[in-house]
Amino acid sequence: MGMSAEKKLGRNDPCWCGCGKKYKACHEEFDRKLENLRNQKHIVPARKLIKTPEQIAKIREACKVNVEVLDTVASKICAGMSTEEIDRIVYETTTKYHAIPAPLNYEGFPKSVCTSINDAVCHGIPSPDEILQDGDIINVDCSTILDGYFADSSRMFMIGNVSPEARKLVETVKDCMYKGLEQVKPWGFLGDMGQAVHDMARANGYSVVREIGGHGVGCEFHEDPWVSYVSKKGTEMVMAPGLMFTIEPMINAGRPEIFIDEENNWTVYTEDGSLSAQWEIQVLVTEDGAEVLSW
Ligand code: MF3
Ligand code: CO
Repeated sequence: MGMSAEKKLGRNDPCWCGCGKKYKACHEEFDRKLENLRNQKHIVPARKLIKTPEQIAKIREACKVNVEVLDTVASKICAGMSTEEIDRIVYETTTKYHAIPAPLNYEGFPKSVCTSINDAVCHGIPSPDEILQDGDIINVDCSTILDGYFADSSRMFMIGNVSPEARKLVETVKDCMYKGLEQVKPWGFLGDMGQAVHDMARANGYSVVREIGGHGVGCEFHEDPWVSYVSKKGTEMVMAPGLMFTIEPMINAGRPEIFIDEENNWTVYTEDGSLSAQWEIQVLVTEDGAEVLSW
């Protein structure tokens, strides 16, 4: 027997997703499919990870703010600006929309956004002493809470004239993310997406960070599942419609090993000092494919 924490509904009961339809007209078949997959030893999402129409509507609004914040950063970022100024732009734009920057005070993180330059992989802390230089590549990772719902996405920016190597890394990592997105479809596996990302990164001579991954998102900042970008096709969680997660591979020009800054206990760097890039989108698995909610 499949072990399930979820309550069994009668076919004429209202569906658990809150759509107002009867269970038999809504998620009954969905639950049967998941049960079969679970019996075949696949990892299936708990019901609480499947977003209801109401939750999706709320998350969509949070995502609109997050996109607006990153668009604002994109329009202003330039050489000579400090990462502290990026933090201020993020804080002011987010709060203008009555939203909260999710990183601020998250597990003690002191700022509203992560800014990670060159060999910084992720979780860079904005500072007035850190000035963007011509040739830098930087990831700006924004997360927004609106009305209790969460958005999370990040983009790379190239400051002034960057080297051909840096440009190729930034552009290829974006392509890797979208290659992964092509694999997001109902009843596929997260590993299909992870392998697509990894294969493309490797084909370009890059390495994918193994220890830090993506995550479920929407009702909380970080929900299950944890999402790897070095996973294998046909493995990891089933992408049931309503599952929402980030695609946010961290990809290094050199070796995959990383270390955490001992001074601040946050910023992650490449061990070999090579450049690292990351893009992040927030994705919803739909009945017929995928929808990108934040980018
Ligand atoms: N935005 C990051 C993510 O994708 C999380 C940053 S948490 C922080 O999970 F506290 F460092 F901001
Ligand atoms: Co994230």
